[in-house]
Amino acid sequence: MNDKKWIVLGLVVFFAIVLFPVWYNRGKAAPAPEVWLSDTAKAAETCVKPLEDIRRNHMHLLDQWRDTVSREGKRVFVAWNDKEYYPGLTTTCLGCHEDKAKFCDRCHNYASVSPYCWDCHINPKEMNYGKK
Ligand code: HEC
Ligand code: HEC
Ligand code: HEC
Repeated sequence: MNDKKWIVLGLVVFFAIVLFPVWYNRGKAAPAPEVWLSDTAKAAETCVKPLEDIRRNHMHLLDQWRDTVSREGKRVFVAWNDKEYYPGLTTTCLGCHEDKAKFCDRCHNYASVSPYCWDCHINPKEMNYGKK
């Protein structure tokens, strides 16, 4: 049975290939994404909520904003630091976080979430106002 050594060699090669990604990615699998802060955001210094709060709760705030604007007709949001904002998704959030791809999407892709908001709301960067 001279085939034996080939079978063993075959198995060694097989496992080497199968296990390569595990070995190769050890300790560095899926690093957290770097979100990009625009110059506008840097100049503003803070978000519409404190950092930890916006990180965790921005989706709830957006739901609340949608309701205050479209159901209650309220068009002012007074933030924790007494600054006033128009409670708008594209105008306000994307007005400051100017690059959705490098900010919202980068994080959402990492977390495998795809908000359906963009079925209707338009990322201002994707509008070309009739330009070619
Ligand atoms: C079916 C279409 C549709 C979808 C999907 C949708 N919206 Fe809207 N949204 C609207 C319309 C229409 C308005 C009213 C616009 C106005 O009054 O100026 C609105 C208004 C808003 C407003 C307040 C006004 C503004 O300028 O932003 C917020 C905030 C908002 N939506 C957030 C969201 C979020 C967050 C999602 C996803 C979780 C979402 N919307 C998904 C259609 C949609
Ligand atoms: C006036 C500018 C401005 C507006 C408007 C604004 N942000 Fe921010 N946002 C910032 C800044 C600046 C930071 C970083 C804050 C810090 O590091 O303390 C930030 C941080 C964040 C973070 C956390 C990022 C991280 O590092 O984990 C999220 C999420 C976020 N914003 C979402 C939103 C959403 C959603 C809206 C609209 C509801 C919004 N922001 C409106 C300026 C803004
Ligand atoms: C620091 C990472 C991070 C950034 C930056 C970020 N998000 Fe999120 N977002 C998340 C995570 C994580 C979830 C899912 C949370 C959950 O499922 O409980 C989420 C969920 C959402 C949801 C709800 C989606 C759903 O289907 O339930 C909306 C709406 C949303 N984000 C809007 C935004 C917008 C708009 C921006 C950019 C202005 C933004 N996010 C930036 C991490 C981020």
